[in-house]
Amino acid sequence: MVQAWYMDESADDPWRPHRAEPSRPVDLEQLRKLGVLYWKLDADKYENDPELEKIRKERNYCWMDIITICKDKLPNYEEKIKMFYEEHLHLDEEIRYILDGSGYFDVRDKEDKWIRISMEKGDMITLPAGIYHRFTLDEKGGCWGLVPTL
Ligand code: LAC
Ligand code: NI
Repeated sequence: MVQAWYMDESADDPWRPHRAEPSRPVDLEQLRKLGVLYWKLDADKYENDPELEKIRKERNYCWMDIITICKDKLPNYEEKIKMFYEEHLHLDEEIRYILDGSGYFDVRDKEDKWIRISMEKGDMITLPAGIYHRFTLDEKGGCWGLVPTL
């Protein structure tokens, strides 16, 4: 199951877990209240996955793109990594499905407190339009995250 928690206040090393102490875990229901939806899928069969197709159809996702967040595969890697971690919002939903590797999506709750969502292979989330968020790779090794955008 996806793990999420409130973050501590430290701004160092974004790729560390930064769990608040004492710990304040966040469950799927709390995420749902913020409009954040989560699915666990089989990333090995993303090219032919009826479950993924069903979600895409239901939610009208008609476009898909894959990016590989890896130093020698992603043009302007450093710049992009920095951009992903800058707090931002979009006018549309953000849909991300991790095909490999892992990383953190941080979202602000209604009181502007950061919640960190730990995403790994097979995890898919949608962030609602207008929610402040950011993304970073984690400590497991920065070189093998794949984030397709649907
Ligand atoms: C994006 C993520 C990283 O906008 O928030 O692609
Ligand atoms: Ni974004």
